[in-house]
Amino acid sequence: MNDTYDVIVIGGGPAGYPAAIRAGQNGLKVACIDGWKNYDGSAAFGGTCLNAGCIPSKALLESTELFHRARSEFAAHGIHAGEVSMDVAAMQKRKAGIVKGMTGGIAQLLKAAGVTALQGRGQLLPGREVAFTAHDGSQRRLSAKHVVLASGSVPTALRTAPFDCKHIVDSWGALEFDAVPKRLGVIGAGVIGLELGSVWRRLGAEVVVLEASAAFLPIADQQLAKEALKHFKKLGLDIRLGAKVSGAEVKDGAVQVAYADAAGAAQSLTVDKLVVCIGRRPYTEGLLAEGTGVVVDERGFIKVDDHCHTGVENIWAVGDCVRGPMLAHKAKEEGVSVADRIAGLYSHVNYDVIPSVIYSAPEIAWVGQTEEQVKASGRAYKVGSFPFLASGRARAMEAGQGFVKLIAAQDDDRILGVHIVGPMAGELIAEAVLAMEYAASSEDLQRTIHAHPTLSEALHEAALAADKRAIDMPNR
Ligand code: FAD
Ligand code: NAI
Repeated sequence: MNDTYDVIVIGGGPAGYPAAIRAGQNGLKVACIDGWKNYDGSAAFGGTCLNAGCIPSKALLESTELFHRARSEFAAHGIHAGEVSMDVAAMQKRKAGIVKGMTGGIAQLLKAAGVTALQGRGQLLPGREVAFTAHDGSQRRLSAKHVVLASGSVPTALRTAPFDCKHIVDSWGALEFDAVPKRLGVIGAGVIGLELGSVWRRLGAEVVVLEASAAFLPIADQQLAKEALKHFKKLGLDIRLGAKVSGAEVKDGAVQVAYADAAGAAQSLTVDKLVVCIGRRPYTEGLLAEGTGVVVDERGFIKVDDHCHTGVENIWAVGDCVRGPMLAHKAKEEGVSVADRIAGLYSHVNYDVIPSVIYSAPEIAWVGQTEEQVKASGRAYKVGSFPFLASGRARAMEAGQGFVKLIAAQDDDRILGVHIVGPMAGELIAEAVLAMEYAASSEDLQRTIHAHPTLSEALHEAALAADKRAIDMPNR
C-alpha cells in the first residue's frame, strides 16, 4: 500500500471523522486513524461522543424519561398501565444496540467517502510523518501533506477521590451500571452530573450531588439556572452547592465521602456508587513525538489560532483537544472547517453562536450571551419572555413548564441571546441559532410565521414580548 496521503486525521470522534469525510468529499486522499477501544476490547469509530458520551447518555435519558412519565404523568391522560417497572438489562441492551449501530455507521461513512480507516494509535512525527501502531501491534509509517490532530478529551480525575472503576467511576462507568444504585453520589453539578444524576434518580436512586461552586450552573443565564434548579429539585436531586470534597474511600462495599459544606462544616456522605464528573481534560498522551513543534499549553490543550492551525506548517488541531467548549457540534464544525480550508475553500466557525443543551426534563438550552454578560458589556438591551404554561401545545403535552427568554439590543434590535428551559428546548434553540447566525433582529422573528399549535410559538411570543407586543400573554 502507498502510505502517502493528502490528509491524515488522528482521532475518529466528532472532530476527526467529519474532517476525514469532508476531506474525502473534497477529492483528497485521506486516512483516519482512531484508537478507541471499548470495555470488551472491541475497536470502534466515533470517539467519546458515540461510544461513551452523547449517544449512550441520550439513550438512557430517553428510556428513563419514558419510565418516569409513565409513572408520574400517564394517569393525568387517563392511561392506567398498572405497575410500571424497569428492566435495566433491557435498557442497557437497547443503548448498546444504538451505539453499535451508530459507530458501525461511521465506518461505512468513511468508506463511502473514500477514506482509509485505520484502527490503532497514531503519533505525529516531525515532517508530517505519522507512526501508526495497529491494535494487533503491527507498525508502519505514513506521511501526508496535512495532518489533523483530533485526539479528544478524557475525564478529569479528582486526587481526593480516585477512580477504582467499581465504586468510584467516571461518566462512562456511570453509563454502564447494570443495576440501579440505592444511593448515588455525584461530584460536580455540571452537564454530566445533571444528566446522569437525572437518569439514575428517575429509576429510584437517592442522588446527592456535591458541587464546589456556590452558584448553580454559573455559565448559564442565572434566571435560567434558577428555573432549572427548581426542576432538578422537584425530580429529587439533592444538590449541595459550595461543597468541598476532601476525600472518598471505599469501606465495606460503600463509598464514604468527606466534604466541607458551604458553611465550612465537616460533613460525610455514604453512597453505593460515586460518579466523579468535574470536567474533562484534553487528551494528547503519546500523540506528539519529540520535535514536531506543536505546542501544548499549560492546561494541556494543543495551541491553535482562530482557524485551528497549530502554527506548524500544515498541522491542524480540532475538537476537545483545543480551546473552546467541549461539545460534539463544535468539534464537528471545526473538523469540517479545517478540511475545507485544506482544500482551499472558504470556511469559518462562528464561535459566538454555539448552542448549549442539557438533556434534562425539561430540557435546558441557550445560545449567545446571558443577561449577566450583556449587562456587563454595558450595551442597552431589552428582554422578552414567554412561559410554556401559556403555550397550548406545551399544555397538551403536559409540559407547561419553563420559559423562553430572548435578549435583544435596544439600539438595533439584534438578538444577543436566547435561553430556554422547557419541552424540547434542545430542538427549539436551533431556530435561535439560525436567527443569530443571520444576525436577525427580534423583529425578524416577530414577522416570521410559526405553525400553530407548536412549541416554537413560545420563541415567537418571546420575540414579540421584547417589544411588549406579545399576543398570548399580558405584556408587562
Ligand atoms: P473524542 O470524541 O474524545 O474523540 C477522540 C478520538 O481520538 C477517540 O476515539 C480517541 O480514542 C482517539 N484518539 C486519541 N488519541 C489518539 C491517537 N494518538 N491515535 C489514534 N486515536 C486517538 N457533547 C455534545 O455536544 N452533546 C452531548 O449531548 C454530549 N454528551 C456527552 C455526554 C458524556 C457522558 C460525555 C463524556 C461527553 C458528552 N459530550 C457531549 C461531549 C462530546 O462527547 C465531546 O465534545 C466530543 O466527543 C469531542 O469530540 P472529539 O472528536 O474532539 O473527541
Ligand atoms: P462541567 O464543566 O460541565 O461541570 C463540572 C462541574 O464540576 C462544575 O460545575 C464544577 O464547578 C464542578 N467541580 C469541579 N471541581 C469540583 C470538585 N473538586 N468538587 C465538586 N465539584 C467540582 O463538566 P462535566 O459535567 O464533567 O462535563 C464535561 C464536558 O462534557 C463539559 O464540558 C460538557 O461540555 C461536555 N458534555 C456536554 C453535554 C451536553 O452537551 N449535553 C453532556 C455531557 C457532557
